[in-house]
Amino acid sequence: MDKIIVTGGRKLRGEVEVSGAKNAALPMMAAALLTDQESIIENVPNLKDIRTMLDLLNSLGAKGEYRDGTVTITPGNTLVPVAPYELVSTMRASVCVLGPLLARVGNAEVSLPGGCVIGPRPIDLHLKGLEALGASTEIRHGYVHARMHKRLRGNDIYLGGAFGSSVLATANVMMAATLARGQTTIEDAACEPEIVDLACFLIRMGAKIQGVGSKRIEIEGVNKLHGAKTAIIADRVEVGTYLFAAAMTGGDVLVKKADPNHQNVVIDKLRQAGARVDRGKSSIRVRRTGRLQPVNVTTLPYPGFPTDLQAQMMALMTITPGISVITEKIYPDRYMHVSELNRMGSRIFLEGPSAIVQGVKRLSGAPVMASDLRASAALVIAGLVAEGSTEIHRVYHLDRGYERIEEKLSQLGAAISRQKEQVPEQKSDSSMALELEAVG
Ligand code: EPU
Repeated sequence: MDKIIVTGGRKLRGEVEVSGAKNAALPMMAAALLTDQESIIENVPNLKDIRTMLDLLNSLGAKGEYRDGTVTITPGNTLVPVAPYELVSTMRASVCVLGPLLARVGNAEVSLPGGCVIGPRPIDLHLKGLEALGASTEIRHGYVHARMHKRLRGNDIYLGGAFGSSVLATANVMMAATLARGQTTIEDAACEPEIVDLACFLIRMGAKIQGVGSKRIEIEGVNKLHGAKTAIIADRVEVGTYLFAAAMTGGDVLVKKADPNHQNVVIDKLRQAGARVDRGKSSIRVRRTGRLQPVNVTTLPYPGFPTDLQAQMMALMTITPGISVITEKIYPDRYMHVSELNRMGSRIFLEGPSAIVQGVKRLSGAPVMASDLRASAALVIAGLVAEGSTEIHRVYHLDRGYERIEEKLSQLGAAISRQKEQVPEQKSDSSMALELEAVG
């Protein structure tokens, strides 16, 4: 197991290139199952979650490989539609194979994803949508057993849940509907750029989809899809993470290969916080010389402030004079990073789904424990401004979603390195709890 060591105090300066979006690549890899032909997906980041999805596709009988940022998948004609607990429990996005397997093979057994440190992650909306398309579903022995009787039938489906739209439920239902008979309308669909990217790929495969990027998606089912080639969009969460890191250190960073149109809310919040932000065509430059200003943030479905940047925004607020308030509306319990940031000297108080952050003059480096992917990123960027050195343990969480983060931050002037750490023989109950994956 590795740990990351950051010595604080250096301003980030220079240029950094972001990788392709993991959360766009994962459902797209599942979408490749909708045909027997070869599909090629480029600009795929070299991450643990991508390898897990490839392992899953290969265990289903597809032939998938990753080489130099390109994933090639040939599903062939003999898929075994069973997604086992061992794979699904390490990565929640595995649930995206449910819709494609059902549409292509006619039945699927997919393990329920299970526990997650960022809060409950039900899949009722996925099942509701697939049932509306005519599938029958049943939960037995920890698995979803889904079956269609003849062929999926298009339908009008309202997919909103208690916390708004669902990204992967929209993906699952949209993928299944591409091969259904007749027209499907998804109301309160997710509008995230990753869903738009997925729809573009499906359209290249021969699907008929309209309205994507809005709350109402219309899909006219077709009999067959074919293989296609695409390149995925830039990772907007990675972009946001570098923007917050730069603003936090009072630096000057140009984030390249970014799509500024995906960052409107982030740019707005950074400007409110006192940073200067310039939008390029496919880059964003952030600079800060003045004092930070407190900002209030509420996480919401896109185009609202992303829950996947909540922890990083909180890190910025820890050294912002005054009081800032964060309200988490997607995952009200996604606050595992709070106690770790407080170990570094921040003053954060939880009040229901809100975190009240009272800015301190400085953070002080400490050993801290990463609990999930985005929490790990927040601890790394907090370490950049902390006095002394911060050791972040359990960075395998970080490796699920950030490609070469220590190399990229080093290029920007950060003092950051990775070391192997000894795994203690006996683990305490609390450290075992932290090992629960926050499956993205
Ligand atoms: N929800 C339900 N029922 C469902 C599905 C979701 O109630 O059937 C609720 C969730 O509990 C949550 C809300 O709806 O309160 C939104 O969850 P959503 O389904 O949109 O999340 P997801 O699709 O499972 C994706 C990302 C997450 C990201 C969320 C929200 C991928 C692979 N994962 O998850 O990314 O936080 O959308 O934007 O795309 C990460 O990358 O670190 C990560 C966790």
